[in-house]
Amino acid sequence: MTDRLVVVGAGAVGAAVAWVAARDRLAGEVVLVDPDPGSGASRVAGGMLAPISEAWPGEREVLELGAASLALWPGFAEAVAADGGLPVGLRREGTVQVAVDAADVADLDRVVEHLRAWGRDVERCGGRELRRREPALGPAVRAGLLIPDDLAVDNRALLAALEAAGRAHGVVVSRRSVSRVLDDGVRVTGIELDGEVLEADRVVVAAGAWSGALHPVLEGRVRPVKGEILRVRARRSSLPPPSRTVRAAVSGRPVYAVPREGGRLVVGATQYEAGFDPDVLVGGVRDLVGDVERVLPGVADYALEEAAASFRPGTDDNLPLLGPVGPSGLFAATGHGRNGMLLVAVTVGALAAALRGDPLPDAARAAAADRSAVAPG
Ligand code: GLY
Repeated sequence: MTDRLVVVGAGAVGAAVAWVAARDRLAGEVVLVDPDPGSGASRVAGGMLAPISEAWPGEREVLELGAASLALWPGFAEAVAADGGLPVGLRREGTVQVAVDAADVADLDRVVEHLRAWGRDVERCGGRELRRREPALGPAVRAGLLIPDDLAVDNRALLAALEAAGRAHGVVVSRRSVSRVLDDGVRVTGIELDGEVLEADRVVVAAGAWSGALHPVLEGRVRPVKGEILRVRARRSSLPPPSRTVRAAVSGRPVYAVPREGGRLVVGATQYEAGFDPDVLVGGVRDLVGDVERVLPGVADYALEEAAASFRPGTDDNLPLLGPVGPSGLFAATGHGRNGMLLVAVTVGALAAALRGDPLPDAARAAAADRSAVAPG
């Protein structure tokens, strides 16, 4: 064998790890295995790179990891685009996070308090000021935060660019299903593919919500958290879409709209603990449409282009699983929950270090795959 590294799962995380491993010559051969590359959660993602508006009181490590990854994103995006020769659709307009009813405003203020206590200042504005800055916001918006440093990425452009970047560095893509990772009790020996064995010296499990089934050390550590999104497009007669990512709580229910080229928005996302139920539900679409319309009334006149569902890979403490775990040669790059797009930049650095045999970078240590899982505190 010629020092073969297998990466299982060709979502954004797996494709990015395979690209960096090939680019940095971290293995003699890099094989990326997925029956349908880019078809899972990465395809359905909103693409917000928004650690502050994803932060909940009590989840400081999630915020810190996300902030570290956000800082790495511009360099990551530039490198992927340069190697792949394709744009990744990075947007720099920032986020506006808004509240609609009194309870939503109270929640928003609690989040501001926590962020300030953690040393992260944000600009809080009333509804009128927000509408002045972001005219697509409707009259129901009462208050909100401006978060200018957030970024957003076009998830599907990123997937195409990562695929091209990997190809440019010799990543071999195998469109097959992996049933499990094999080991001899001490070290990894390969993977089982549709009943056949592919030998490997090292395996990175980046199979998102499906990761837990691939090796006993990951069993029960990653669960599917279903999410539904809509993709809508402003028509010639429509009010223009917002330039920033808009996040809102509408009667306690979170909704977001992330701009894309061509007057499009990705509107998301529902969140259910429903196992691997693949259907887009009428009730989910109803909630997304109703909630986004409260905040961005012009959307009612947009064309509905797509409704889709996928599965976030959730963990018990909402931190991903990164680096070595279990038998020698087994690595995880999974469990990114709601933040796969955001955390891909910190993940590739962590996995590159781990594949070199170095400790995880400080920023990624809280997410070490060999930590014992704890509930968020
Ligand atoms: N990152 C947004 C979501 O998971 O819906």
